[in-house]
Amino acid sequence: MIFTGFLPNATKKDLRIALGFLLLPWQWLLLRKGRYIRDIEEKLKNYFQTPYTYTFDSGRTALQKALEALQIHTGDEILVQAYTCIVVSNAIRWAGGTPVYVDIQDDFNMDPHDLVLKITNRSKVLIIQHTFGTPACLERLIMIAKQHNLIIIEDCAHSLGVKHQKKLTGTFGDIGMFSFGSDKVVSSMRGGALITHNKKIGEKIKNLQQQLPLPSRLKTIQHLLSFPAFAIGKPLYKFGGRYFLAILKKCNILGRIIYKREKEGREVPFYPSQYANAFAAILVNQLKDIDMVNEHRKKIAHVYSTRITNKNIILPPKNEESNYLRYTILVHNPIHIIQAARKQGIILGNWYDAVIAPSDSNISSANYTIHSCPHAEKIASCSVNLPTNRSIDKRKIEKILSFINRYGN
Ligand SMILES: Cc1ncc(COP(=O)(O)O)c(C=O)c1O
Repeated sequence: MIFTGFLPNATKKDLRIALGFLLLPWQWLLLRKGRYIRDIEEKLKNYFQTPYTYTFDSGRTALQKALEALQIHTGDEILVQAYTCIVVSNAIRWAGGTPVYVDIQDDFNMDPHDLVLKITNRSKVLIIQHTFGTPACLERLIMIAKQHNLIIIEDCAHSLGVKHQKKLTGTFGDIGMFSFGSDKVVSSMRGGALITHNKKIGEKIKNLQQQLPLPSRLKTIQHLLSFPAFAIGKPLYKFGGRYFLAILKKCNILGRIIYKREKEGREVPFYPSQYANAFAAILVNQLKDIDMVNEHRKKIAHVYSTRITNKNIILPPKNEESNYLRYTILVHNPIHIIQAARKQGIILGNWYDAVIAPSDSNISSANYTIHSCPHAEKIASCSVNLPTNRSIDKRKIEKILSFINRYGN
């Protein structure tokens, strides 16, 4: 089987670390709190060369705390691109802001022309998302933000380690936000971070981080269990592993990437929280691989871009800087191709299958007005993601190419 998601970065060492926290009684006290949090924050500080770096339970919490640190007031407008995730909209609303959606370009990132049209005298913050690891049109967006006195948060949930003109994404704006969620560049199943050079903002973020509760013990265990569950369920997927994973999920033994309440635009009782020490221990192991996994993704994307010849498929624009966290193609009928691929043992991705994803989210709770970002709506209705993760080798890529090039012909 070939997987696009399902914790695709996890290594054997990550599994050993997770099992250590789950099975060794002397590690249970260190599940939530311990030295790995300080350790990972130091490592991120060195990686980004930023003086202020703080971790959180997730990217969405990091984003909410970034906005709270900026002391936005009720009704302040936060400009964010459509073709984003419901948890981004929730973070904005829970910090007290109103999301205002900006349309996108063909590279899946914010369209500067539409940004100008959406700015009002209530606009306070601009969130620049580097979708699928492709750097947004930074020069133009930053110039517009400066002209209108907007504070910039870069949403680097997909672009950890990606550079634009040799400078890391996340270091262009006032605050950089990162995610270590299950299918991200590197992953500890759950986690997020903020970086900033600004002392005043940095101190506010630190205060907010310290006021957060420790992560729930139950949720930490549920997310840690994903490591052994996927290690068993993925290789056996065709032989019952699929049902094994579905049952674990249904019985709430595994944590969710997005909870039902979040899709409805409602808060969950167990988050926001601090980052868990057990996840930080896994991230310490993963972090050293950032550049290697991003290089790997670029190579896989290059193969797709040169060898997909199917005229029914639109390829993403080429971008030398992108890590192509997921290589997103546009097709006439995404559900059909996903189902056809599954029959061939290929699980394609459906990230951003809606303008505010996932598609079963309540977009009116997210303050999105239908037809306000037509290009994003069109692209979302055609998007399918091909995998670029570290498990994709020559044999798997040949299988994917053979399926894709024959599809619909
Ligand atoms: C663009 C973007 N920003 C932020 C987030 C939130 O990250 P997390 O899942 O760690 O909360 C996501 C989630 O996938 C995302 O796609």
